[in-house]
Amino acid sequence: MKIVMIAGSNRQGATSTLLLRYIGRLLQGHQISATCIELNELELPLYSPDNEELSPNVQYVLDIVKGADGLIFATPEYHGSISGVLKNALDYMNVSHISGKPVLSVSSAGGPVGVSSLTHLQSIMRNLHGVNSPEWISIGAGSQGFDAEGVPLDAGLRERVDAAVEKFLVLTRSLSVGVMSLR
Ligand SMILES: Cc1cc2nc3c(=O)[nH]c(=O)nc-3n(C[C@H](O)[C@H](O)[C@H](O)COP(=O)(O)O)c2cc1C
Repeated sequence: MKIVMIAGSNRQGATSTLLLRYIGRLLQGHQISATCIELNELELPLYSPDNEELSPNVQYVLDIVKGADGLIFATPEYHGSISGVLKNALDYMNVSHISGKPVLSVSSAGGPVGVSSLTHLQSIMRNLHGVNSPEWISIGAGSQGFDAEGVPLDAGLRERVDAAVEKFLVLTRSLSVGVMSLR
């Protein structure tokens, strides 16, 4: 099972990226290969429908997303929505990259929860024919601390992340076997 994760913050030390890295380690614990693309490091040019030639970084992202069995996207909550860099990356994608794939959405907000960005992300995934995982993960004020090993300090958050990842994996396994024809 191949999982691809995209960290949608353009900020060093972003809490959404730290959470995604932690999820990556949980997946490793399940012996699942997970690739994490951090958009802060892998710069993508601004999407334009006029550009027919894709940059090598864009092609890399599209190829790796296309080959994934499941996808996890993380975003900071910006003005009640997802970040510009994540939206830019998603604008390059179409149903051929996402259709039939389970998607787990993760956000970090300045307020207690970041439901708007999660709702927007799920809506984009629905438009690309992705299959939204039943749970999503939101961190916000009071749950954004990580220890030196990158483990969330909030025990309740760790439990919620475990449960959300577990459901995402059940969905990913089911879809890998059952509904390949959706892709
Ligand atoms: C441009 C901008 C817009 C933001 N808009 C919101 C918002 O609408 N709601 C909110 O709760 N926090 C908002 N914040 C705060 C961020 O969501 C918060 O700092 C979050 O932890 C950023 O995630 P990161 O640590 O992954 O970068 C905003 C921050 C910035 C820079």
